Amino acid sequence: MSTTFQAFRVNQSGEDFSAGVSEQTLENLPEGDVLIRVRYSSVNFKDAMASVKNSKIVEGYPVTPGIDLAGEVVESDSEHFREGDKVIATSYEIGVSHDGGYGEYARIPSQWIVELPDGMTLEESMVFGTAGFTAALSVHRLEEAGIRPEDGSILVTGATGGVGSMAISMLAKLGYKVVASTGKDSEHDYLKELGAQEVITREDVYDGKIKPLDKQRWAGTVDPVGGENLAAILSKLKYGGAAAVSGLTGGTDVPATVFPFILRGISLLGVDSVNCPMTIRRQIWNRLASDLKPKNALDKMKHEITLDELPDAFNTLLEGQARGRTIVKI
Ligand SMILES: NC(=O)c1ccc[n+]([C@@H]2O[C@H](COP(=O)([O-])OP(=O)(O)OC[C@H]3O[C@@H](n4cnc5c(N)ncnc54)[C@H](OP(=O)(O)O)[C@@H]3O)[C@@H](O)[C@H]2O)c1
Repeated sequence: MSTTFQAFRVNQSGEDFSAGVSEQTLENLPEGDVLIRVRYSSVNFKDAMASVKNSKIVEGYPVTPGIDLAGEVVESDSEHFREGDKVIATSYEIGVSHDGGYGEYARIPSQWIVELPDGMTLEESMVFGTAGFTAALSVHRLEEAGIRPEDGSILVTGATGGVGSMAISMLAKLGYKVVASTGKDSEHDYLKELGAQEVITREDVYDGKIKPLDKQRWAGTVDPVGGENLAAILSKLKYGGAAAVSGLTGGTDVPATVFPFILRGISLLGVDSVNCPMTIRRQIWNRLASDLKPKNALDKMKHEITLDELPDAFNTLLEGQARGRTIVKI
């Protein structure tokens, strides 16, 4: 096996910052009992945040970002994985404080790895990636809260983004009526192709005013946007509704009141992909290969790039202009 390989590395020392593809050695990979030949990774909002100067989420330099990876095991000291096994590794410290998926090889602790489920290819697993996993966990949380298709429509915010696009296609497959909210006028047809029955503007969700209680509109929401948008949504959920909240592209402060909770019995459901327990993680990946796997939508969402094209992909994402899911062929 070659002891050198290519990886996209990010480094910062004082004001000196660099990001690009360079040659690495297997010996310099971090500790872990499983060595993986990475075939695909993906681009998430967190990857873009990890790859810019003065990143607030990287804990030490240099680092290979890439919070998602999928490939084949080439060496294993774990009883759970053997050479040749096809595996997925996402979340935990991957791509933030432990070298991640933007390299031809990754050494990962076995307790962070899941086996590729039957019915899913390595490529498909990265079209899903953390965004798809998070969307699926959001849908799972809404189901656990008792939200059924007959209860009313589900609002998906940040609809053209990774989490949003995935959530639309999964909810539509399960028979929910999906209302997609987007800031991109040009993407309404794309969102309808994914399964949205109605597409509305961001301003239709939040027009700058948040009432304690507003007209009841949606039975639930998958919300990766957060901020004031979320406060506005909470006041518009139907009686007994629920919000599955995963992100912060619209801000971190949620200026809500208690009224939707105490007068309409709504629920706020947190969604965390990073430290999600392994039993639930496996269950969600298996659902992604079966009942939550969109029929034709994965191809519509997918955009493939190489390691060299990562900086452009990060810029597009940070400008809020990304559409669907970008995978990285390694
Ligand atoms: N909790 C978790 O475990 C977890 C896991 C994955 C991601 N996340 C978080 O979820 C969020 C979305 O991730 P992603 O991968 O889907 O990102 P993404 O692909 O960049 O999509 C974000 C989308 O949000 C919308 N948006 C951007 N700026 C906005 C603003 N100022 N106000 C309202 N909407 C805005 C845009 O969609 P439109 O133009 O269509 O409105 C954009 O495409 C991020 O905050 C990410 O950190 C959390």
